[in-house]
Amino acid sequence: MPILTLPTTPFGDQRPGTSGLRKKVTVFAQKHYLENFVQALFDVLPDATGLTLVLGGDGRYYNRVAVQTILRMAAAKGYARVLVGEGGILSTPAVSAVIRAHKASGGIVLSASHNPGGPDGDFGIKYNIANGGPAPEKVTEAVYARSKVLSTLHTSDSPDVALDVLGDCQVDGMQVSVIDPVAIYAELMGTLFDFSAIRRLFASGFRLRYDAMNAVGGPYAKAILEGTLGAPTGTVVNAVPLEDFGGLHPDPNPVNAEDLIAHMTAADAPDMGAASDGDADRNMVVGRNFVVSPSDSLAVIAAHATLVPGYAQGLAGVARSMPTSTAVDRVAQTLGIPCFETPTGWKFFGNLMDAGRVTLCGEESYGTGSSHVREKDGLWAVLFWLNLVAATGKSVEALVRELWTAHGRCVYSRHDYEAIPTDKADALMAGLRAQLPTLANTTVAGCAIALADDFAYTDPVDGSVSQKQGIRVILTDGSRVVFRLSGTGTEGATLRVYLERHEPDAARHDIEAQTALQPLVALAESLAHIRALTGMAQPTVMT
Ligand code: G1P
Ligand code: ZN
Repeated sequence: MPILTLPTTPFGDQRPGTSGLRKKVTVFAQKHYLENFVQALFDVLPDATGLTLVLGGDGRYYNRVAVQTILRMAAAKGYARVLVGEGGILSTPAVSAVIRAHKASGGIVLSASHNPGGPDGDFGIKYNIANGGPAPEKVTEAVYARSKVLSTLHTSDSPDVALDVLGDCQVDGMQVSVIDPVAIYAELMGTLFDFSAIRRLFASGFRLRYDAMNAVGGPYAKAILEGTLGAPTGTVVNAVPLEDFGGLHPDPNPVNAEDLIAHMTAADAPDMGAASDGDADRNMVVGRNFVVSPSDSLAVIAAHATLVPGYAQGLAGVARSMPTSTAVDRVAQTLGIPCFETPTGWKFFGNLMDAGRVTLCGEESYGTGSSHVREKDGLWAVLFWLNLVAATGKSVEALVRELWTAHGRCVYSRHDYEAIPTDKADALMAGLRAQLPTLANTTVAGCAIALADDFAYTDPVDGSVSQKQGIRVILTDGSRVVFRLSGTGTEGATLRVYLERHEPDAARHDIEAQTALQPLVALAESLAHIRALTGMAQPTVMT
């Protein structure tokens, strides 16, 4: 079939955010919208002769259409080979694993992560580079610049590829290999964890409930937990990826995974609960009647990492996004390893991992991962916890309480104010920025402020600088309030207010987080005037 060159006109709104380009399906479905973005990407990438690309997504609505479109455009770009997951399916961590295993030049992930799916939901696309991680800002900004001046598309009129048949076929001289989406990822997990110990744990009657939230994590969790590790059938629930996630909001936090929380607080609760998000890179871990905060999860994993075979040599260092609690910093200090503080978004961890300076990293937004891939990895985190429970014989709750006893509890919460009109959100942030120079050494709402700034990050590996990564107000006792606007939303703006207070007193470790954080909520309000500016009396989501 001939390669076609078609005229197109630019869209002005194709700037990738925290994690690629995310828009409503209705936006992506406009004529040439997806094509323009892919062409802008291909124009920015070098010549593809002889190169391999990995392609797959979380199976949400529009996934299949997008896969077929991209295959035709990849052929026109001149790729030698595209590896695509069966059915167009690959979880985000699996894309990363496949890129690395096959030494591909990069990959395209089709996902809007934890955002709702379906015809009225969201769709997304992002590019990952040869290390398996999200493209750095210099690439995403170049793609955006190119998208604004694009005038031609290159594609072909080849018929659709049979995505449900494993094996090879050709699209205009390019080899397309439809691969098992799970195999490479599952093999990698087997090299990291003590599968025999986890198998014995399940054989001894340990009960896990893994809620895949009707999203892409299902096939991976079923194959590894119920298949390889012998967990009873039915351990993984909501295991079939659905185009609209069955109406669920596939974001694993106690609000959205309320069914899991109900099971974990019931009289006959399983020993451990877990959930993953739309593209299976996020995770939530729950003990019996005990929710683990993501920041604590990272700290527990770091504290006990050497019990897990893949990490027995010890950790080079750890990293967390700036708003993530300082629990892992405290563990790192005890271990005598470096702890890096990066801006929000996984792309900032890649350089540190490639340079061998960091082994584990995580974010407060239910993301945890390690240098085994260059994405956060939901099922990996759950396997890590299972391995720790098997190795220590301790419950999920006991492991967290041990952390608190050793380091104090970092009481933590994030308050989200969603769908604020963009101009109001911008005004709120501008108002905060204007106060920054005068806040240090003052007392506001009874809180003594030590430092107030707009977080800027200089990458220690390549020296690149990222400015305006969130406003942080740090009190003299180390408590913090952080304000930033989401870079992944698709409706207006979302204000995130992150609250952290350290509680060293063991007698107060069971304090309810929202109660403990009330003084910081009052501080946030008096600094940002959220109610007056947004008209919202309460956050839309508190996690
Ligand atoms: C959110 C999370 C961030 C995460 C990103 C992609 O970004 O806060 O930690 O890396 O999703 O999963 P945000 O919407 O805050 O820009
Ligand atoms: Zn995700």
